[in-house]
Amino acid sequence: MRMTDLIAKKQDGQALTEAEIQYLIEGYTEGTIPDYQMSAFAMAVYFKGMTQEEAAYLTMAMVKSGDQLDLSAIEGVKVDKHSTGGVGDTTTLILAPLVASCGVPVAKMSGRGLGHTGGTIDKLESIEGFSVELSPEEFINDVNKNKIAVVGQSGNLTPADKKLYALRDVTGTVGSIPLIASSIMSKKIAAGADAIVLDVKVGQGAFMKTVEQARELAQLMVGIGHQVGRKTLAVLSDMSQPLGYAVGNALEVKEAIDTIKGQGPEDLTQLCLVLGSQMLLAAGRVTDLEQGQALLQEKIQTGQAFECFKEFIAHQGGDVKVIEQPELLPQAPYQIEMKAQRSGYISNWVADRVGQAAMMLGAGRATKEDIIDPAVGLVLQAKVGDYIEQGQTLAILHASQPQVDEILAYLQDSVTIADQASKPNLIIDLIS
Ligand code: URA
Ligand code: CA
Repeated sequence: MRMTDLIAKKQDGQALTEAEIQYLIEGYTEGTIPDYQMSAFAMAVYFKGMTQEEAAYLTMAMVKSGDQLDLSAIEGVKVDKHSTGGVGDTTTLILAPLVASCGVPVAKMSGRGLGHTGGTIDKLESIEGFSVELSPEEFINDVNKNKIAVVGQSGNLTPADKKLYALRDVTGTVGSIPLIASSIMSKKIAAGADAIVLDVKVGQGAFMKTVEQARELAQLMVGIGHQVGRKTLAVLSDMSQPLGYAVGNALEVKEAIDTIKGQGPEDLTQLCLVLGSQMLLAAGRVTDLEQGQALLQEKIQTGQAFECFKEFIAHQGGDVKVIEQPELLPQAPYQIEMKAQRSGYISNWVADRVGQAAMMLGAGRATKEDIIDPAVGLVLQAKVGDYIEQGQTLAILHASQPQVDEILAYLQDSVTIADQASKPNLIIDLIS
């Protein structure tokens, strides 16, 4: 087989075979296929696409390029959730104990965040003492005993994806739907998922700017999942504005605690119930989504989900007092209000700009080496569709220093106030 022939074949719009895709991923991982040939191939895929079969072969070739987590010693169906990236997306922190409290094992391997705000691990580490450094044995034992554990990334998972993603980033090929779908699915499968629930975000703050693109991505990922024997469900959800009110690590932990106790923001709560019921369905714990939502609501109302969260935090060394009294979480020394410049309805609040503002405050990383300040971030006081008076507080910035004029100005530019506006629909579609 020759790489030049495979490039030409894709350029012609033909579908590659499993053996051909295996060859090119193995060669690229080992370094016998150079970056320039892989770039040409990725660009051909960008323009000509891939069939569902090809995307499934690509997914599994990338899974096989490195280690795979073996979770077979954990009883039950291991369901993982993936979000294509939102601002202030605290769902994992809420869903993990919520789903675990229903008896479904949550064995989560998670990374640190790059960009906007931290990843799940960064958020959890704002709880004093909490550690994600578990040995594989501890991790499996914890899940079997408590139904929940979160571990930091270890091992050499999907090296082909790492290398290809870095190449796509600099060759204008990140936006190819089959390449995105295979990239996401390979990481979930290598991390040991038997079943996968996908939250595909749509809107200005998201990878997918239109519903059509998001639906195409979701359908392809669901198709890949079925082809490789993993039950896969997807939600299309709105990311034209941040989810919930809080953006920033400790601030989001507090918001998660409120939500697990049934006192969280309406949109965040609704998304957790939808994703959680899909997770229960994928795990075979319930027979339909309505039953799933009812069970989740029961776990919230009886406090069992909150108990599960506390046990999980305690088990991994975290200070449970912080969970009971979230005011003990790291606090920023300065709280600065951003005021509305006119009266009216909020018609737009660009999620990625809000995320950028949180990052300027120190809540996210621009490079892998940056250190996150767990205390900083911002808390919106109103959302799209709400009426506000001129001079009313729109957001509170939690800052490590008092000079935030530039960030305030940037944030003012992210919000639009109009004479009329309505709330966006949070759940756009369910795909199974
Ligand atoms: N997220 C991923 O993990 N991979 C992509 O290709 C795009 C987004
Ligand atoms: Ca939030």
